[in-house]
Amino acid sequence: MKLPSLLVLLIMGLFSCTQTQEPHAWLEGDEHQRIDTVARHLRGNDLVMWEVNYRYNKLYEAIKTSNNEYALYQLQKIKLTMANGAERRSKRKKSYEWFFANAIPPMEKAIIDQKDPMGEFKVFTSKCVTCHSMENVAYMPIKLPWLNE
Ligand code: HEC
Repeated sequence: MKLPSLLVLLIMGLFSCTQTQEPHAWLEGDEHQRIDTVARHLRGNDLVMWEVNYRYNKLYEAIKTSNNEYALYQLQKIKLTMANGAERRSKRKKSYEWFFANAIPPMEKAIIDQKDPMGEFKVFTSKCVTCHSMENVAYMPIKLPWLNE
């Protein structure tokens, strides 16, 4: 490689390094600190549960109206938000892994096979409650959608 092109590469490299250190409108610190700040803003399991609870109710509605595609969509999103949350906050990972192995597959199967999905939804709910006990938040209730009608 010729010397001038090497020099250009070197300058480009230096430029790309200094670029991330430039001041940001509101994020402070180096690149890692900035990512940590954004991760903090994404919040922890409390926000995950907010989305989970919303989708849990949508899952109920979908099962009730036999909208299988929509039910599977909601179940997938429940798993996705939980998995992302477990990655961000590994404290709850073990309990989530238990839920992924024991709650999601039978619920998914019941929807696909159309084998009493509403009955399975109630079993699925009991596993949400089990995880709350495992994580010492048994006092956090889950409003049972079939009781509100
Ligand atoms: C890892 C085990 C775990 C699983 C699985 C789980 N939860 Fe939770 N849930 C928690 C924890 C821990 C909290 C307390 C919030 C926090 O982390 O600060 C919580 C809180 C909640 C809350 C209260 C939220 C609030 O802000 O008032 C609701 C509602 C809820 N979960 C619903 C559900 C539903 C519905 C399911 C099943 C689809 C479920 N959870 C599955 C661990 C779990």
